[in-house]
Amino acid sequence: MSEEIVFITSNKNKFKEAEKLITPLGFKLIQKNPGYPEIQSDSLEEVVRYGIEYLRDKFDTFFLEDSGLFIKSLKNFPGVFSKFVFTTIGNEGIIKLMENIKMRDAVFRAVIGYYDGEAKIFKGECKGRISEEMRGDHGFGYDPIFIPQGCEKTFGEMTTEEKNQYSHRGKALKSFVQYLKQR
Ligand code: IMP
Repeated sequence: MSEEIVFITSNKNKFKEAEKLITPLGFKLIQKNPGYPEIQSDSLEEVVRYGIEYLRDKFDTFFLEDSGLFIKSLKNFPGVFSKFVFTTIGNEGIIKLMENIKMRDAVFRAVIGYYDGEAKIFKGECKGRISEEMRGDHGFGYDPIFIPQGCEKTFGEMTTEEKNQYSHRGKALKSFVQYLKQR
């Protein structure tokens, strides 16, 4: 029987991305969505550590993840406000905010927190740029407006496998998987 790994998330897409990298190693990934407070902090790691503290009495072993999009010319906005900004102004709003801005560099960051009696942190980052228009209907969130470095396609135009090769989450998951293999 394969070992079960619990991913605490309400996001089906994040789960699918994780599944593609974790299940080939012989683990069974389980999605749970008990909900936990996402504190307002300027550090993704702090949000993750708070989530772990909140959930550690409810699950023996689990992981969770927090991520954000940081746009250089907007002084790293939306950053830790990524969720709120996505649900309020969305991709259309970001495109509009950047209408006359030539410098479109941005970075996606992800932090994974794994708890198995103690907390372990894994990070990933993906540099890229904000597209001039929305492209693609794969993925979720800001995927249709983010082009990773070295690519022409947005994340929204990529399959999950392709996105995982470049993405912040893909990188964080790969170092997490490395840890799981070596335990
Ligand atoms: P959270 O990690 O679920 O709090 O995500 C923060 C915000 O960033 C949400 O609005 C997500 O939709 C967005 N986001 C996080 N990761 C990604 C990604 O891989 N692609 C596109 N949007 C993302």
